[in-house]
Amino acid sequence: MSHNISENVLNWYDKFGRKDLPWKVDDPYKIWISEIMLQQTQVQTVIPYYLKFIKKFPNVKVLSKSSLDDLLLIWSGLGYYNRIKNIHLASQIISKDYNSIFPNSFDEILMLPGIGKTTASAISTFSGFSSRAILDGNVKRILIRLFDINGTYTKSQLDKILWEKSEHITPQKRTSDFIQGLMDIGSIICKRTQPNCKICPLKSCGCLYKPSSQKKKYIKKPIIKIMSILTVIINDNSQIYLEKITTGKLWLGLFSSPNFSSENSKNNWMSNNNLSHINVKYESSFTHRVTNKIYNFNVEFYFLKNNKNVSLSTKNWYNLSDINVGVPKYLEKALTIYRSEYEKDNV
Ligand code: ADE
Repeated sequence: MSHNISENVLNWYDKFGRKDLPWKVDDPYKIWISEIMLQQTQVQTVIPYYLKFIKKFPNVKVLSKSSLDDLLLIWSGLGYYNRIKNIHLASQIISKDYNSIFPNSFDEILMLPGIGKTTASAISTFSGFSSRAILDGNVKRILIRLFDINGTYTKSQLDKILWEKSEHITPQKRTSDFIQGLMDIGSIICKRTQPNCKICPLKSCGCLYKPSSQKKKYIKKPIIKIMSILTVIINDNSQIYLEKITTGKLWLGLFSSPNFSSENSKNNWMSNNNLSHINVKYESSFTHRVTNKIYNFNVEFYFLKNNKNVSLSTKNWYNLSDINVGVPKYLEKALTIYRSEYEKDNV
């Protein structure tokens, strides 16, 4: 069964694989950036971010000289900000220990922060320095279906079985095309829901999966709903008041309009900053989902005359037309509402 698998995957890849992705290069630095971006984000979303990132930071040397704030700015909107914090850390290590040359051995790559076995394999294999198997979410799903793995295992037992399978089916020749082919099959054909088994190159390898008869085996995380009041404060120089986020994990280090979990805490903050006399000009709302959390944002837009006696720091104002710090996606959503519905009334 196993030669057949690599042959079928490679034949499929030659005909239908995504060979024109911008990270199909042999520079391990560029592959690293793409693989980190792709960890929790889809190809179509990643492409513009990747192109912008590589243009601004073409190599480790340039990257290692940038500040985390610069990096958060370019990453803003991609989410999972720990990824860019680890990129920043890794760039410092590479500049110090490897003279700013991205290492090319699997073991050295694996030591860098934010890089696990699959990412290290992908970087060293795609750049031509090794021939290693991978085991990302797509490949796990393919293997579970292909080999009908459905016992009760702990996560680490299952991972061990799946790594063995993955290593067993991965050829030593054309490894890079093979693992890219598997990733592509996982995202184009062997999808989580509604896989297209009819056109799957693994169908003739004895794949045991029967889509209609399978029940969902995984337990979904419960949805958590979170109410939030976002106070967007704009002055008459078309500047917005933003504060650096210093709590939580999701958006730590990014800049946002002040955000409150209750009317009470908002009112306290407003009064502490001598803002109680300012009235809300517009209100709007939207939801923003991050994995299992659904944030219900009520947005309040406030307008301030500069001469008003408020105690907001003068350092925290950013030009609305060019916010040069990283902001979370939810703030972009609020600003899109402002720009499309209200801005014209205030210029
Ligand atoms: N996901 C992770 N790595 C990828 C790659 N190289 N191409 C497409 N999707 C991916």
